[in-house]
Amino acid sequence: MSTIRFEHVFKSFHENVVLRDFSMEVRPAETKIIIGGGGSGKTTILKMVLGLVKPDSGRIFIEDQEITQLEEAELMPIRKKIGMVFQEGALFDSLTVGENIAYQMREARTCSEEEQQETVRQLLGFVELRDSMDKFPSDLSGGMMRRVGIARALVGNPPILLYDAPTAGLDPITARTICELVIKLRDLEGVASIFVTHDLKAAKTLASEFAEAQPNGEVVFKSEEENLCLINTHFVMLKEGNILFEGSDESLRSVDNEYIQDFLT
Ligand SMILES: Nc1ncnc2c1ncn2[C@@H]1O[C@H](COP(=O)(O)OP(=O)(O)OP(=O)(O)O)[C@@H](O)[C@H]1O
Ligand SMILES: [Mg+2]
Repeated sequence: MSTIRFEHVFKSFHENVVLRDFSMEVRPAETKIIIGGGGSGKTTILKMVLGLVKPDSGRIFIEDQEITQLEEAELMPIRKKIGMVFQEGALFDSLTVGENIAYQMREARTCSEEEQQETVRQLLGFVELRDSMDKFPSDLSGGMMRRVGIARALVGNPPILLYDAPTAGLDPITARTICELVIKLRDLEGVASIFVTHDLKAAKTLASEFAEAQPNGEVVFKSEEENLCLINTHFVMLKEGNILFEGSDESLRSVDNEYIQDFLT
């Protein structure tokens, strides 16, 4: 089974060709890291997964169901399977952290107030922001906001997560905490994800480290020195609407292409 599949997708905005015969597959518990310069179509790909942008041609599948031509109402059950961490955080300024996370549950009215509060507490625990429930976004650092964005995307335990540059502008230590969350979701929860980024250090962390739960419940992060690249994490590099490169971290480093080597240094 594939969780997300793009087949020969083309997309232009007026004269601007953004994707040209783009094909890609993400399986359960797999992370696809999409790297590429500004305007190369990364956010557009994520919006297509959500059905917010339709391809001009080609087909898109979520859990083997074709979504390419679905109407808004038909997309609702698909979107429930997907959590999105937005590029700019996209929190509501006038709502507290807890209210931001509970927003979708409140709108859906599928669970009681107590259940909502319990879910919010659990999710804030997962992103290690237990004490921030009643704070407003303006009281948070950039890294904390991103973590709230991740907690909000996790409402309903979606099997698919889309991260739009979640470490951009963060210091290396905070960026690392975001990467650890992404790795935990991949390795311990089996989440399939697309991780869009310019941050090669973050990409390398995701491609080379894995999470293991210890008998005492503690989670440890490990990497194998000689095995730089995990089998469940691959790169897609975009340039001018095409996939310039696809594969593992190791092969990305060895590829003889000026653009990729520039990007890596
Ligand atoms: N709704 C739209 N209407 C017209 N042009 C659009 C629209 N959405 C995206 N584009 C254009 O498509 C191209 C790809 O945009 P996209 O947002 O996917 O890039 P990106 O790779 O996410 O860039 P960044 O790294 O800056 O976030 C850009 O040239 C952008 O201007
Ligand atoms: Mg973008």
